[in-house]
Amino acid sequence: TSYNLLILPGDGIGPEVAGEVEKLVAWFSNRGTVRFEVEKDLVGGAAYDASGLPITDETMQRALSADAVLFGAVGGPKWDGVAYDVRPEAGLLRLRKDLGLFANLRPAICYPALAEASALKREYVDGLNLVIVRELTGGVYFGEPKEVVTLENGEKRAVDTQIYTTHEIERIARVAFELARRRQGRVASAEKRNVMKTGVLWHQVVSEVHKDYPDVALEHILADNCGMQLVRNPKQFDVIVTDNLFGDLLSDVAAMLTGSLGMLPSASLGAEDLVTGKRRALYEPVHGSAPDIAGQGLANPLAMIGSFAMALRYSFGLVQEADLVEKAVANVLAAGVRTKDIAAPGAPTVGTAEVGDAVIRELDAL
Ligand code: NAI
Ligand code: MG
Repeated sequence: TSYNLLILPGDGIGPEVAGEVEKLVAWFSNRGTVRFEVEKDLVGGAAYDASGLPITDETMQRALSADAVLFGAVGGPKWDGVAYDVRPEAGLLRLRKDLGLFANLRPAICYPALAEASALKREYVDGLNLVIVRELTGGVYFGEPKEVVTLENGEKRAVDTQIYTTHEIERIARVAFELARRRQGRVASAEKRNVMKTGVLWHQVVSEVHKDYPDVALEHILADNCGMQLVRNPKQFDVIVTDNLFGDLLSDVAAMLTGSLGMLPSASLGAEDLVTGKRRALYEPVHGSAPDIAGQGLANPLAMIGSFAMALRYSFGLVQEADLVEKAVANVLAAGVRTKDIAAPGAPTVGTAEVGDAVIRELDAL
């Protein structure tokens, strides 16, 4: 088999970190066991400069037919004045929408070698490995009505609406249970059923879906308590499933448990195709285009490389290959190879390409 991968490097450090993933793709291809068909295309500001749109219909078609999309980052001061609906970020929003990416997976893994960089003490995070599964296309960020109205007395009233349907909760719950099955078999479902109707339904539907996964342990947890527990004792969690708003907050908290933005990968998954069984998927680092360091070869490529490892694992089913990449990354970190963002003050640092080359050398050695 060969796997069709669309790489959309984007802007700023996007192309720099994507270049290091291309080295890994070439390494696997040279090894001869796995074949990738890689296409590259423009997105964000780069696409806008070329076509006047942050993503063209042709690129969108390629994304729809790819087995997985690997996305760098978009945006930067160059496009600050661009009209709202064609700004670079609109390219990513269209991808998410047209690919139907409703499940956002954000792992928080704390490599022992980086435990000092965490916001918490080493003993709380050393060996941490959890995933937050955030519902991405529903909830209060999208619910209607969503408006600011001026009342008769001149006061203003702002309204956002939290809406979830049974179907939306069921499909995100299934993603979480399936994922837990391949991990430590534990799901924590976070909502606020004590004060929100969406929380009541969320709790009900997740419990119902759980009946199909008797091998997975389910715990219901109030979202505020979940935030507290993440800081108090994060290693108690395996998979946390939650809605769009709580997931936004909880995943940022989890991010700081691991140290640096330059280390965080993510995956966004769509519905399973009933015929092929394949899921649409987009993999991207959590960080942005980092204009302050772009073009200098200083960016940490490990979030992007980690995103590629997630694509291997979740889109291509290449579990051994994903394990191999993650082991190589752990070894590189253990050997003290550091870009500036993850280095101790005064410690020696290397650039983007050196990190990618070090990962390749580890792969050769493993
Ligand atoms: P950012 O993530 O680009 O940068 C924040 C800070 O982290 C900067 O100091 C940057 O140098 C550093 N940083 C980020 N990634 C790094 C890496 N791999 N290695 C080393 N250091 C790294 O966020 P910021 O500054 O808020 O946004 C910059 C631009 O990126 C904006 O135009 C924003 O709209 C866009 N952005 C795009 C995203 C995406 O494409 N998904 C997500 C977030 C922001
Ligand atoms: Mg956020």
